[in-house]
Amino acid sequence: MTKKTVRDLDIGGKTCLLRVDFNVPTEPGTGRILDDSRIRAPLPTIHHLQSNGARIVLCSHFGRPKGKVVEELRMTAIRERASDWFGAEVIDAGLPGQDPEPAKVIAGLEPGDIAMLENLRFEPGEEANDGKFAEALASLADIYVNDAFGAAHRAHGSTVGVAEHLPAAAGYLMEQELKMLTRALESDERPGVALIGGAKVSDKIQVLENLSRRVDTVIVGGGMVAAFLKAQGYRSGKAEIPDEEVHTAGELLFSSEAKVITPSDVVVAREFSEQATPMIMSVTEVPDDCLVLDIGPETRKAYGDEIIGAKKIIWNGPMGVVEWPSFADGTYAVARAIAAADAFKVVGGGSTVSVIEELDLRSEITHVSTGGGASLEFLEGKELPGVAALDDA
Ligand code: 3PG
Repeated sequence: MTKKTVRDLDIGGKTCLLRVDFNVPTEPGTGRILDDSRIRAPLPTIHHLQSNGARIVLCSHFGRPKGKVVEELRMTAIRERASDWFGAEVIDAGLPGQDPEPAKVIAGLEPGDIAMLENLRFEPGEEANDGKFAEALASLADIYVNDAFGAAHRAHGSTVGVAEHLPAAAGYLMEQELKMLTRALESDERPGVALIGGAKVSDKIQVLENLSRRVDTVIVGGGMVAAFLKAQGYRSGKAEIPDEEVHTAGELLFSSEAKVITPSDVVVAREFSEQATPMIMSVTEVPDDCLVLDIGPETRKAYGDEIIGAKKIIWNGPMGVVEWPSFADGTYAVARAIAAADAFKVVGGGSTVSVIEELDLRSEITHVSTGGGASLEFLEGKELPGVAALDDA
């Protein structure tokens, strides 16, 4: 169903509660922001609101403080970085019931000013989607815009509850994410290729099943390769794989509508360690005392050939243990092949997006999703509660 967007709202002179996802990765210990793309992503919405004379009250969660104030999870550094990007001070507006009192700060805003609430998850009412907390948030504004695609799979006070009390619309980022991910699932650009990596079949089974009905070829990588090897009767090394995972992998391999491709060779090691010695071998030879940690060179080539011929590509999840240089080549090869392909290309998932950034390939990808769990749930075919809560167009 189509939802209202920020363009449909009467904005002039109004105060807008703008839900963003500023849950940025930070360096453990120092709290230094490692990637601020989530802070930049709602800029078009902010400009639209400012140029139409709105006062903006940003709100986001950061980390998982579980309803308590956690000093390291204050929004201070994020607010400073946002001020740099937005070209004006983002004012600290506190949280309802805490100091500073948001209503007082917001009453002093001029049209075009931007304030930001403290970490929403400091309040237990946020994750509980408590009615009183949602009402308190709604009382701070006249209109509500949700640009937090990354949090749209959470039914929380600031993503669902608040939308019951105010005119509620999608921001530009939310609109773009939905448009691109819908195209990924529904367009008939062919051949369509989905590459899915990840540690466990159980984490990715729903997306594998949904995509296998919507693309021509599904390519499998990551730790779950072991389950697919076992399902084909090969030895899969020393990883313990539950029988259900093997069964599910087998069903996908042998009964799905799409062609499901698994590695023909792999990189294995005796220990799960960055320092472990990598060994390349055929999938028919994986010893019982080894772990599969990446796809091999022959497989990279075969996967690359599928990718280059595709007209639509969806990628979620690394092909191996990409954090460790000895086991990263499979993921890098796939990332480069996707970048080179002349296709509609969508990439989602935290570590997958990090690889695109690390290799400086963002400009070669049609859409890099800001959502991790949210983009996965969307590709699984689920309705996201934060989207469902918005007003229908
Ligand atoms: C994310 O980083 O995927 C979103 O911000 C959601 O965070 P959460 O998994 O803590 O709800």
